[in-house]
Amino acid sequence: MIILGIETSCDETAAAVLLKDQNGIQILSNVVASSASLQAKYGGIIPEQAAREQIKSIIPVIQEAIENCKLKIENLDAISVTYGPGLIGSLLVGVETAKVLAKIWNKPLIPVNHLLGHFYANWISSVIPSISEESQDLNLEIASSPLAPRNDVPKFPCLGLLVSGGHTDLVLFKDHNKYEYLGGTRDDAAGECFDKCARLLGLPYPGGPEISKLATKGDALKFKLPVPMLDSKDFDFSFSGLKTAVANLISTSEVSAGLQQDHTPEVLQNLAASIEETIIISLVEKVARAAQKYNIDQIIVAGGVAANLKLKQALKKKAEAFSRVLHIPPPELCTDNGAMIASAGFFTKLIKNPLNLQADPNLSLS
Ligand code: KG4
Ligand code: ZN
Repeated sequence: MIILGIETSCDETAAAVLLKDQNGIQILSNVVASSASLQAKYGGIIPEQAAREQIKSIIPVIQEAIENCKLKIENLDAISVTYGPGLIGSLLVGVETAKVLAKIWNKPLIPVNHLLGHFYANWISSVIPSISEESQDLNLEIASSPLAPRNDVPKFPCLGLLVSGGHTDLVLFKDHNKYEYLGGTRDDAAGECFDKCARLLGLPYPGGPEISKLATKGDALKFKLPVPMLDSKDFDFSFSGLKTAVANLISTSEVSAGLQQDHTPEVLQNLAASIEETIIISLVEKVARAAQKYNIDQIIVAGGVAANLKLKQALKKKAEAFSRVLHIPPPELCTDNGAMIASAGFFTKLIKNPLNLQADPNLSLS
């Protein structure tokens, strides 16, 4: 089965074509256009501008995704699209485009919750680099592909941690589309905390990768920040207090003097290291406790913050110590992309009448 996945929930316009066969789920093409650098000029996302960029990019991105895998429209079995949550203007561009394409190409349309979509990046086995132009016979091409079947896709039950720019959620998956919501952030999401702290430090948007880069040379022990909700018995998170603690720290004369000296980035690096480490401790501790409480040995992590190398290392260390199996997608499949939406499409019900699909900016997991 072959699915075209379309993702436009925020500032990325993305489309991908994925194949599911006996070798698992494979990426045939994956195209992402981001307006993040444009948004960076303003220190964050301006929804109207993000939507305008979506309109400019959506058709070329879909066209490129289909052309890159050298398939014909007839080869597509279905279209899956993010219908929420996200920015309404951005969502509408993807949803309305997908509805029209489903109608004119006569394909089933599969509505995907963006948050569940992130988790499905963990079910993608591999990438087929390119399908030769001469071979339009897809079955032949795939049969001769050297890909080995993948054994390490997640198994149920599994514990899911979603850490993105808008969401931080802990979910217990019993099966596809069957999950129990364990907890989530009470205020800012982990990615939002990275972005807001970065802004306080004068770093560009998106802040996560910027803080992470600086942190590699910093010493997290130089600044002690409070780890939010570490002692609470639930599986909730809170990150807005951390942002306030960073703001307070920056306003002290010693730190502000250090930050103003162009030749002394040390303070910046140390602050970045502390912020990153504090967020990571909070996430890793709650995941470990949930895995123990529910006796779950498979952990799946998803969302833009999962691209963070130190988070991955810390989760891996913890998982190994407790004999848990950890699944984290490669960084390019952690941030928003169409491949995860196509992957989720293989496990999600189609909508009977594509024209009835409505974007839902407030969709959640809870
Ligand atoms: O999943 P995503 O691409 O979009 C949403 O659905 O929100 O996540 C974007 C978030 C941003 O807050 C960004 O700062 C964060 O992911 N992020 C990172 C890293 N890469 C992206 N945070 C920490 N470390 C990273 N390497
Ligand atoms: Zn996302």
